[in-house]
Amino acid sequence: MRLILLLALFLSIHAYAQNEVDKAGMHGKESHGHKGGMHGDGHLHHGHGLDMSNVKQIFSPLPTSIIDEKRNAALIKLGKKLYLDPGLSVNNKISCNSCHRLDNFGVDNEPTSPGHEGKRGGRNSPTTMNAALHIAQFWDGRAKDVEEQALGPILNPVEMGMPGEAAVVSKLKGIDEYKDLFAEAFKQEADPFKYQNIGKAIGAFERTLLTPSRFDDFLNGNEDALSVNEKRGLKKFIHMGCATCHNGVAIGGNSYKKIGVVEPYETTDMGRFAVTNIESDKKLFKVPSLRNITKTAPYFHDGSVETLDEAIRLMAKHQLGRQVGPGFIDDVKAFLESLTGNGQE
Ligand code: HEC
Ligand code: HEC
Repeated sequence: MRLILLLALFLSIHAYAQNEVDKAGMHGKESHGHKGGMHGDGHLHHGHGLDMSNVKQIFSPLPTSIIDEKRNAALIKLGKKLYLDPGLSVNNKISCNSCHRLDNFGVDNEPTSPGHEGKRGGRNSPTTMNAALHIAQFWDGRAKDVEEQALGPILNPVEMGMPGEAAVVSKLKGIDEYKDLFAEAFKQEADPFKYQNIGKAIGAFERTLLTPSRFDDFLNGNEDALSVNEKRGLKKFIHMGCATCHNGVAIGGNSYKKIGVVEPYETTDMGRFAVTNIESDKKLFKVPSLRNITKTAPYFHDGSVETLDEAIRLMAKHQLGRQVGPGFIDDVKAFLESLTGNGQE
């Protein structure tokens, strides 16, 4: 109820602001005002009309690091090896990296992913990049962190298909290289080969998968890090209300929201309801992070939306009750491009 009221308020204020912004065009000077007439303004100020203190309240830059990489070097090294190792799957063919490719922004660009014997689950593989920052893991938040999450796919019959924890451990024990790596990573433990430790190592590695972008430079004070189009897109993203859900350090990843808040959305996936059994959790999903979003198509929990244009249009329609055209979509897409990690290509 409170959410709806807030949304309604937000929409009415910002429907107005949006109009003004559109009228003022790229020369608008203040976040909510100074309509038109400023086209002769040739001064060298940033001129993006964004209230930076407001922007910094809504979003935060990525931290440089969320794990002590020096102290945990052995653990991270083991985690990376496990992440890339198809030996963790029953037929030695599927690794974490098959569905969450490190050289491809942590995804496979498939609607749903082929796992053991080509079987597919019902959901799209989200990226592992920056995932450690989320409130919880999976579309429905059923694992509390990346350490817990990593233990799921190994035993999942449609992912890596191993028959049980003991089987995984004994398989790894038979590989010489792992003896040293586990011993190094878990020095204090008499028996480092524990199933839980696989999760700890992979999780530690995943905590290193942060992708700083130009938007972080912008938030850190370099206002020239974004182009004029990108700043206009950011302004529209905020004014339209996208940032009521996609905010914080991951531009999402920090709350659960219904798909179809304003206009119902067709899906048979009940999302968070399957975890909590609470009626009002039906069709709630973890709000996805929008970092690297231009690279992680297709979109939505079932991978049913092929293009980012369509994802933006559907979001405006179903989450905010707004029709948007190519002008809005192109600008917002430009802003979203600024969330792509540097040095990933
Ligand atoms: C066959 C493809 C496949 C394999 C192999 C696989 N995953 Fe996934 N992964 C998925 C899918 C699909 C989801 C989403 C499932 C859901 O939300 O119900 C997911 C979700 C995740 C998430 C949650 C991200 C988020 O934003 O919530 C992480 C982290 C992750 N996987 C890491 C791993 C790790 C680590 C491994 C190896 C141990 C692995 N995955 C193996 C397909 C795969
Ligand atoms: C009320 C909360 C809410 C609002 C407002 C909202 N979103 Fe979303 N967004 C979500 C949720 C929840 C999903 C996941 C939907 C699903 O997979 O079924 C999502 C998914 C997305 C995706 C696809 C992400 C992926 O990895 O598949 C994009 C892109 C996106 N939103 C952009 C936007 C834009 C642009 C706006 C503003 C026009 C917006 N969102 C407004 C909650 C919201």
